[in-house]
Amino acid sequence: MDCFLIEGGIPLHGEVQISGAKNAVLPLLAATLLTAEPCVIRRVPNLSDVRFMGQILTSLGAEVSFDTETVTTRAAQIRGFGDYNLIRKMRGSVCILGPLLARLHQAQVSLPGGCVIGARPIDLHLKGLRALGATISIERGYVCVQAPRLVGAEVFLGGRAGPTVLGTANIMMAATLAEGVTVIQSAACEPEVVDLAEFLVAMGAKITGAGTPFITITGVKELHGAAHEVIPDRIEAATYLLAGAVTNGEVTLHGARPDHLHAVLDKLHEAGVQVHRHGMALTVRRGPELTPVDITTQPYAGFPTDVQAQMMVLLALTQGIGIITERIFESRFTHASELARLGADIAIEGPSAIVKGGLPLSGAQLMASDLRASAALVLGGLVAQGQTLVKRIYHLDRGYEQMDEKLRRLGARVQRVPEPVSESRDDV
Ligand code: EPU
Repeated sequence: MDCFLIEGGIPLHGEVQISGAKNAVLPLLAATLLTAEPCVIRRVPNLSDVRFMGQILTSLGAEVSFDTETVTTRAAQIRGFGDYNLIRKMRGSVCILGPLLARLHQAQVSLPGGCVIGARPIDLHLKGLRALGATISIERGYVCVQAPRLVGAEVFLGGRAGPTVLGTANIMMAATLAEGVTVIQSAACEPEVVDLAEFLVAMGAKITGAGTPFITITGVKELHGAAHEVIPDRIEAATYLLAGAVTNGEVTLHGARPDHLHAVLDKLHEAGVQVHRHGMALTVRRGPELTPVDITTQPYAGFPTDVQAQMMVLLALTQGIGIITERIFESRFTHASELARLGADIAIEGPSAIVKGGLPLSGAQLMASDLRASAALVLGGLVAQGQTLVKRIYHLDRGYEQMDEKLRRLGARVQRVPEPVSESRDDV
């Protein structure tokens, strides 16, 4: 297992190119199962989750080829029964359920489990598919879905924590080939849902309202192949904005979509971080003084849960008290105790983290536990004086393309090194 060895305390300077969005490309790849014709997806980030999704499509019988930033798929003949262990490992793979059901009228997909950030049920996905006429059973760890006919319906997808992103994607994909009209109410408004809708429309689907809480899908007989370019990764962009801010450097982002980052830009501004927009580029630098802010994570267009951990590092550097309230996932604060090893003062009370900022941070050995927590630990290591070792960075490789290389180009001293065996610290 690899680690990042970071020599902290160096302000980052320079330019960084933002990659295609992981959370857009996973459902886009699933959508290619809806047609027997070839599809081409461009601006695909080279991430382990994406390669994994490619393997899942292959296990279903599709041909998948990766060429630099382009993936070409052809799902001429597919089966609705994927490799149990392959699918089980990645939660994002749940979005193959809708396309398989639409195309084959039946599917068996391993039930995705919970993960370190929360229980992550799929009841809303199943509720939506049932509304379209599917019968569903859970057998031997599989979700078994059948629908000789899929018929359009009104589907309410609001849950305890608001709409579901992949649930919206699943139902939207299933409804493209259903008979009649489907209206998704309380649909997720995330840019990744809009990106998927645009690809489906390019494939011949009839969809209006994506990006609003009401999406209308009029079923068609079949979809055809299409080409599509993935939107830039707004979470990666936010992470590099924060990397520039926490190290007190000056970083320019190319290829990001500022219109997808309103909530993050607004909080950075409130916190005293200056972000200048020139054309499509964004330059971040810290203002004369940082101010503590309170953050509550919300569905889009609110503050994203996927940036909460990275924002905690900025609060840890800011004199005063900032409160982060996590409203999407029930246990997404694993980074807090690791940041405390660097010297941060963070107390967790229910869904809130109370960050008493302004203490000096010094390097330590840290253990990454999920993707965004890992990014926060790397940001912490970039700020802390001395050496920080971030272990288990395979989590990071799931969602950040070449993070070590991108950071090095900004002047950071980050090395990818094998985990020192004698020093390995296991969870107990
Ligand atoms: N929920 C339910 N029932 C469901 C589905 C979701 O109760 O059937 C709950 C979840 O437990 C959670 C909330 O609804 O409390 C929102 O979950 P959502 O379904 O929107 O999450 P997701 O679609 O599984 C995607 C991203 C996550 C991101 C969330 C929220 C992908 C592959 N994953 O997950 O990304 O945090 O939306 O924006 O698109 C990440 O990239 O690090 C990551 C975790």
